[in-house]
Amino acid sequence: SETAAINTNIVTLTRFLTEEQTKHKEATGDFTLLCHALQFSFKAISHYIRRATLVNLTGLAGQSNATGDDQKKLDVIGNDLFIAAMRSSGKCALLVSEEEEEVIYFKDQGGARYAVACDPIDGSSNLDAGVSVGTIFGIHKLEDGSMGTKEDILKPGSELLAAGFTMYGASAQLVITMRGGTVNGFTLDNSFGEFILTHPDMRIPKARAIYSVNEGNSHYWEDNTKEYFSALKLPQGSGKPYSARYIGSMVADAYRTLLYGGIFAYPADKKSPKGKLRILYECAPMAMVFENAGGQAVDSKMNRMLDVVPEHIHDRSGIFLGSYDEVEKVKQFHK
Ligand code: AHG
Ligand code: MN
Ligand code: MN
Ligand code: MN
Repeated sequence: SETAAINTNIVTLTRFLTEEQTKHKEATGDFTLLCHALQFSFKAISHYIRRATLVNLTGLAGQSNATGDDQKKLDVIGNDLFIAAMRSSGKCALLVSEEEEEVIYFKDQGGARYAVACDPIDGSSNLDAGVSVGTIFGIHKLEDGSMGTKEDILKPGSELLAAGFTMYGASAQLVITMRGGTVNGFTLDNSFGEFILTHPDMRIPKARAIYSVNEGNSHYWEDNTKEYFSALKLPQGSGKPYSARYIGSMVADAYRTLLYGGIFAYPADKKSPKGKLRILYECAPMAMVFENAGGQAVDSKMNRMLDVVPEHIHDRSGIFLGSYDEVEKVKQFHK
């Protein structure tokens, strides 16, 4: 019958967060309120990205950021939207953003107990071509007694309280995980203005013959990295070589890898000895998502990504991220 087709028990992100909160007896509700502010920023960024070409929001903002990237107009708007959402939540003590050279301290926040790292628009070089981009975030809880200092966020990813990202693709897809928890995916239903649980308990396939790397850097790769990727190009046990997929937005390459399996890599190389991707708001949050989904994430020295401690807020790292067995293969070539 028609009614059977209607799901009347819709799990929105708002409901999901409420249900999660009830699992923690000591919860104050502050984390839930912080996540409500987060989800609003994703809805707002999604709105402006989808209208960018209509309202002249594509193109460069005319300045560059602390990591040397030329800022796009949407980098700046996404950053401003995110900062406003965090400040007005009253629950964020300090914020690190790719687009801010220094830590932003929200001084007038009484009991704020969270430190947030974010990449407001990831993959922004793809924006003018209408290719999927995203927002990446990581949430740390302040040390007891801390009023919020840089040390509260210069932590290994293993201490993240929560992490995730939103990819602005055919739909806006939000993926979020808590330390030691499952990975859950939500799809923005624009008619409700709500993120709806569509991918409960995401698990990355154990292996998949797909690799995702910018081959344009291969001249600068270390020999063991060259050998690893060359090996993937030979016919495997299946009789076929790996398939190559590279979008150039980490969030989109990561989301595909999370769903289909395979390996994503941005290796450190002779051109970028420390790698390109930033630890606090790209590598660590993604590493937590992938580990909680049954995958792995390591840096170019094969250290577990979640054990890496950044010295400065914009520190970079090489990264291999993906299916459990695929990262094992990376280790075989790089040990
Ligand atoms: P951002 O747009 O936030 O600066 O990040 C861009 C990153 C990441 O999204 C992507 O994986 C990588 O840059 C692509 O780098 P290349 O263009 O060098 O492949
Ligand atoms: Mn950038
Ligand atoms: Mn990025
Ligand atoms: Mn960015």
